[in-house]
Amino acid sequence: MIEDKPTGLADAVIARMSDCTEPRFKEVMASLVRHLHAFVNEVDLTPEEWMAAIEFLTATGQACNERRQEFILLSDTLGVSMAVVGLDQARSVRADAQIARRATEATVQGPFYWEGAPDMPLGCDLSAADVAGEPAYYTGEVTDTEERPLAGALLDIWSGDGEGVYDMQVAGKGMTLRGRLRTDADGRYRFWSIRPTEYPVPTDGPVGVMLKRMGRHPMRPGHIHMKVSAEGHVPLTTHLFGRGGRYLDSDAVFGVRNSLIVDYERHEPGLAPDGRDLKQPYYTVRYAFRLSPRS
Ligand code: BEZ
Ligand code: FE
Repeated sequence: MIEDKPTGLADAVIARMSDCTEPRFKEVMASLVRHLHAFVNEVDLTPEEWMAAIEFLTATGQACNERRQEFILLSDTLGVSMAVVGLDQARSVRADAQIARRATEATVQGPFYWEGAPDMPLGCDLSAADVAGEPAYYTGEVTDTEERPLAGALLDIWSGDGEGVYDMQVAGKGMTLRGRLRTDADGRYRFWSIRPTEYPVPTDGPVGVMLKRMGRHPMRPGHIHMKVSAEGHVPLTTHLFGRGGRYLDSDAVFGVRNSLIVDYERHEPGLAPDGRDLKQPYYTVRYAFRLSPRS
């Protein structure tokens, strides 16, 4: 027998899990059922609205393929990805409260990470000759939270081009503006790429329709992505954002952290710090990434 009360229905669903042998799965599913039922009751959901939601989720799945992940985009634009990122980082920092400095803040991975970027040497240029964008030279260190350099730390870097387009968004295009490089014996890294610009998240799918109906813009401020990892340390997924860029205070995926905003210092054509002779203006960026030791 199921009670009439809506809460009774949620309880009845949860009670059917009495044979579930996975405690964490049971906890998560029970909470999900409780919140879903509370949501349905709070908004007094109609059958038409429920069917529209099912069609929306179906279309979201159908929009996914090898190069497109509409569900990540949905999670990102609803702020869920950043909520999970924040919890995850708080968890790893909590065990680490006595450290001299905090680890670099994490942010969303987004849908454009492509596993298996090529290994590149320090000082390399990630931008091929035909890539749109102004050159930028990125340098800095990877350290632990006591600011001890981490030699051999891995940086897995990716970005869109100078017009905000990712290789994955262009049918048939191979990896561009991606590479994995390792810090030197002093924990230092250096590489060339481009200065990123603001761009819209993909709007030609169901999430784009949702954003429009919510009265929201789809823009992200210019940024470059990286995963930074080193043995014995908590891996970090983050971005660097350019100071003064548009949309820093209204990122469509809520991913901006003040500590991740960097200066792109502009230079006239000429000899760059690594001796490269630039025929056009270029930028330099410095940033030190700090990783938490694993507890
Ligand atoms: C990105 O920065 O690549 C991105 C992140 C979240 C949603 C869409 C794009
Ligand atoms: Fe991005």
